[in-house]
This record gives sequence, structure tokens and C-alpha cells, in this order.
Amino acid sequence: MFVVTGATGNVGGELVRLLAAAGERVTAVSRRPGPLPEGVRHSAGDLGDPASLKAAFDGAGALFLLVAGHEPHAVLEAAKAGGVRRVVLLSSQGAGTRPGLYGQPAAFEEAVRGSGLDWTILRPGGFASNALAWAEPIRAHRTAAAPFADVALPVIDPADIAEVASVVLRRDGHAGRTYVLTGPQPVTPRERAAAIGQALGAEVRFVEQSREEARAQMLGFMPDQAVEGTLTILGTPTEEEQRVSPDVERLLGRAPRPFATWATRNLAAFQ
Ligand SMILES: NC(=O)c1ccc[n+]([C@@H]2O[C@H](COP(=O)([O-])OP(=O)(O)OC[C@H]3O[C@@H](n4cnc5c(N)ncnc54)[C@H](OP(=O)(O)O)[C@@H]3O)[C@@H](O)[C@H]2O)c1
Repeated sequence: MFVVTGATGNVGGELVRLLAAAGERVTAVSRRPGPLPEGVRHSAGDLGDPASLKAAFDGAGALFLLVAGHEPHAVLEAAKAGGVRRVVLLSSQGAGTRPGLYGQPAAFEEAVRGSGLDWTILRPGGFASNALAWAEPIRAHRTAAAPFADVALPVIDPADIAEVASVVLRRDGHAGRTYVLTGPQPVTPRERAAAIGQALGAEVRFVEQSREEARAQMLGFMPDQAVEGTLTILGTPTEEEQRVSPDVERLLGRAPRPFATWATRNLAAFQ
């Protein structure tokens, strides 16, 4: 049985669908329930409260683990006690490139590596789905605002992350490996807004925010340290953070999906 945490999110939701479609038994974990495919059990649990996960882990063999809360060792012990032998961690590229700014994912990585479980770490760059922050302003007045308008990064479609996770959870040969997951080419925020406009068949006006304006907005839904790390990567990425990783193509046997494909698939959010 597979336990998927973050099961109602962009990555976890797609992973649950893929595992269920492949005929696997799945337990979906999140704090609040959400829509799930038929036959998938939901177990309410909070990664910030490891004891709340006991029921979800009972009889599990493999775990897809999200970075949330501050007790990764206790979460992994509870997973082992329930029967889990394999863990796939959804970390962040920043845990490798800027561990000082990405302390929480770096701590989860260390705990997973020392857990005695058969582990694999996924380090994605920024998600294409972060553009959903533009859904309301694009619907209301065809405007998208972001900082660092012309800094390009190879953002990844969360559905590709889910597909990679499904492969490494279900197949042997990935234990002890860390994969960096990116999209197929670097795209700037201005180009991403234009791609949504193209999918809509309407012009989307781009407004460049200052770092401070973006910071104030992001603090509404992200912790302080994560905001600093994200803004640093968005504004002054290293060569490594701008590079396209070969790992998605190696693992899936096809190129990662471009941003425009994500925009077309998620068009309803912007209409
Ligand atoms: N966005 C990026 O650019 C980016 C880049 C690199 C890595 N990441 C990592 O990827 C993760 C997943 O992204 P996503 O877009 O799929 O997330 P998302 O759409 O925001 O969904 C988050 C999921 O996790 C659940 N969740 C959140 N906190 C939880 C907790 N304390 N205990 C149990 N479940 C919890 C949520 O459900 P409930 O709220 O109901 O619990 C939801 O199912 C992020 O959390 C981040 O660590 C993101």
C-alpha cells in the first residue's frame, strides 16, 4: 500500500490519480479532505503532529513524503512502525544549491538519508503551477504581476513530478538516488504570462513588482525563510538553478512538458 502525503495538492493529487489508475492501493493524507479517485482511502493527518499519522501508516509499504512540520525523524519512525520500507521525499532544488536558506527541506533530506529506509530524494525547481497566483487577477483584469520579469528559470509541470514519483515509488533501482527535476527550457515570468495569454487568446498585461512588493505578498502564504530563499533564486539564480536537468527525461523516457502545455491544461483557472 502506498501512502501519499500532500494528497490534495498539485503534485500529490496527480500522484494519487496515477497510482490508483495503475491499480495500486493508496491512502491519501492531508489535514482536510479533498476530491479523490474512487477507491482511494483518505486519512486525515498533520505532518506537524506525527502521532496523527499512525492510522495512515498502518500496513503501508511505501511513502511519498512532503516537507511540512519540523519533526521528520518522528514521522519516519511512525512510518517504519507501520511497515513502510521505501520513502520518496519531495524536497526542493534549493536544499542542494542553498541549504542555508532551505533549512527545512535540508533537515528532511538528512532525516530520510539516515532513516534506514530505502530512500529517494526529488529536488524540483520552481513549479509551473505557481502561476495559479495569477488566476484571479488574470480573470478579473487580464493582468499578471511578478518580480524579476526577465530572469528565466526552467519551471517544472507538477504532473511531471508526480509521474517521476510514481516511477520511483513502484520500481526498484532508485534507492539512494537524488534527482533534480526541471522543465525543458528556462522561461521568464514575462514569457509565462504571455503563454497564458496565448492559451486564452487574449493579451495578458505584465506588471513587474519590486522585490519588496513581492516579499510582502508572499509572506501572506509562505514562511519568512522560504520567502527569502525563493526570492533569491527568482532574482539571482545560479548557473545550476538555470540549467535544464536531464533527470526527468532519463526517468520517464520523454522530455518534460513545457510551460505552455501546463497553461493550456489549466486554462479554466484563468477564464
Ligand atoms: N511551489 C514550488 O515552486 C515548489 C518548489 C519546490 C518544492 N516545492 C514543494 O512541493 C510541495 C508540494 O507542492 P504542491 O504545489 O503540490 O502543494 P499544494 O498544492 O500547496 O498542496 C499541499 C498539500 O499538502 C497538504 N499539506 C500541507 N501541509 C500539511 C501538513 N502539515 N500535514 C499534512 N498535509 C499537509 C495540503 O493539504 P491540507 O492543507 O488539507 O493539509 C495539500 O494536500 C510544497 O509544499 C513544497 O514543499 C514547491
